[in-house]
Amino acid sequence: MNLFELNGRVALVTGAAGGIGAAIAEGLVDAGAKCVLADLSKENCEATLSRLRGKNGDVRAVSLDVRDRSSCEAAVMEAVSAFGGLDILVNCAGTNTRMRPEEYPESLWEEIIDTNLKGTFLMCQAAFAPLRSSGKGKIINVGSILSLAANEVTGPYAASKGGVVQLSKSLACSWAEQNITVNTILPGWIDTPLSRQARIDIPGHAERVVDTTPLRRWGEPADLIGSAVFLSSHASDFITGISLVVDGGVTAHV
Ligand SMILES: NC(=O)c1ccc[n+]([C@@H]2O[C@H](COP(=O)([O-])OP(=O)(O)OC[C@H]3O[C@@H](n4cnc5c(N)ncnc54)[C@H](O)[C@@H]3O)[C@@H](O)[C@H]2O)c1
Repeated sequence: MNLFELNGRVALVTGAAGGIGAAIAEGLVDAGAKCVLADLSKENCEATLSRLRGKNGDVRAVSLDVRDRSSCEAAVMEAVSAFGGLDILVNCAGTNTRMRPEEYPESLWEEIIDTNLKGTFLMCQAAFAPLRSSGKGKIINVGSILSLAANEVTGPYAASKGGVVQLSKSLACSWAEQNITVNTILPGWIDTPLSRQARIDIPGHAERVVDTTPLRRWGEPADLIGSAVFLSSHASDFITGISLVVDGGVTAHV
């Protein structure tokens, strides 16, 4: 048995239009999975979709707003009706706006918590029934090194990502009986549209990241593929409720 192959498995990846989600979707397809790419607008997934089709990937795209329960249910239904079931859910949709806590408008708090934390929960709920039917369901949630530590301008984001870790542990306990594993990946500084904004907002940030990362570079979205394939595959069948840090050593350094 190849521990890491995903032949015939069906995956749904949220936030798959670009950045980390697109890379993870590509990694799952390369490992043999059929994949639904879900993002705010399915048109935004077009570039990833055609790249994966070019590799003979069995893929399709769906519009999804993870803040909306019926949208989550529709995306899961799309995967089930297109591919006959669902085995892997990767919750990668996320957002952030950096601001000091005394300045945060309530509406922004809601947007960040609803996308990152409530959205993860709604997707897990929507996917529960087909993952249970799969008999070997795998959920991979995406936290952050800001699930573990924080800085001055990340109140709601750090709260949401800390919540994702605890939510994942709780779901891991709840759904072990159904043989659904629930794990979290915690990326460090990865070069994507989301983190590019931080480089613009915070002078000297890009250089500071390299200086404080033991492996001395920014991560690339593709750096997350190994952990996502691992946690989707037989190689991780006895692993649930863990958080896997993929950060070039940032959180190991004092
Ligand atoms: N880039 C980093 O350094 C970093 C570090 C730690 C964690 N993360 C996390 O990784 C995940 C992916 O982020 P990224 O860096 O690739 O950023 P990104 O902005 O490239 O990707 C996020 C995707 O989520 C989608 N999205 C946002 N709100 C949504 C909603 N309501 N419904 C559906 N889709 C929605 C966006 O359209 C976008 O395509 C996020 O959860 C982010 O918090 C990123």
